[in-house]
Amino acid sequence: MKIAVIGSGIVGQTIGTKLVALGHEVILGTRDASQLDEKKGWAGSLNDWLSAVGPGATVQTFAEAAAKGEIIINASNGMASLEALHMAGIENLAGKILIDVANELDFSQGMPPKSLAADTISLGEKIQAAFPTTKVVKTLNTMNCAVMVNPKQIDNGNHTVFVSGNDDGAKTTVTELLQRFGWTDIIDLGDISSARGTEMLMPIWLRLFGKLGNVPYNFKIAIG
Ligand SMILES: NC(=O)c1ccc[n+]([C@@H]2O[C@H](COP(=O)([O-])OP(=O)(O)OC[C@H]3O[C@@H](n4cnc5c(N)ncnc54)[C@H](OP(=O)(O)O)[C@@H]3O)[C@@H](O)[C@H]2O)c1
Repeated sequence: MKIAVIGSGIVGQTIGTKLVALGHEVILGTRDASQLDEKKGWAGSLNDWLSAVGPGATVQTFAEAAAKGEIIINASNGMASLEALHMAGIENLAGKILIDVANELDFSQGMPPKSLAADTISLGEKIQAAFPTTKVVKTLNTMNCAVMVNPKQIDNGNHTVFVSGNDDGAKTTVTELLQRFGWTDIIDLGDISSARGTEMLMPIWLRLFGKLGNVPYNFKIAIG
């Protein structure tokens, strides 16, 4: 399957690498696809990523990637996701599944960043409202990207990932992809408004990061 990843940072590169390993064709989107040598935040340059990942991936503009992708993944900066997805093009996202892994975090006041999610609104809902025919599924935003694509590295995968979205068929497709990543404990929280809950996990996730450091960890929902 052709999968577009809108976002060139550590998350986009990590998910893109996993998708290629699973046999998908990945079109990774960036704003300027002629600038591939600069380091991308926590990740290396896109030229280094292309060399490492091999022929299953290309780097193109957000719009070119979204036009070709059968499924779209939003791995852009959460504060700029609406801008990035508008650059991708409403017509290129229409009718498609959009997997939203972004968190709207404001780093302007230093660490830890402030989450803009509230019990009245989430980024997932803002994206769904802006792109009404796109099937937005919020998932994977509650753990770091190394854990997203390799959950079995913690307790053989005995921990939880959530899905939120309005379209049951889209959530089934996304759940199958999560299973290919190695996820087994997948909780469907309901419609896209339930993304408020997972996005509001960020303040505790970030404080755990301050306490535990850069180690793999995740939430586990224990059910009696
Ligand atoms: N780090 C993690 O492990 C983790 C875990 C869970 C969720 N997340 C979420 O995943 C997302 C990606 O995180 P990240 O650290 O990989 O990357 P990031 O630095 O948050 O975002 C990088 C991407 O955002 C684009 N971007 C930045 N400003 C923009 C603007 N004004 N307009 C349009 N696009 C813009 C960049 O475009 P260019 O390609 O042109 O540079 C790039 O593609 C974030 O929403 C983050 O909260 C991260």
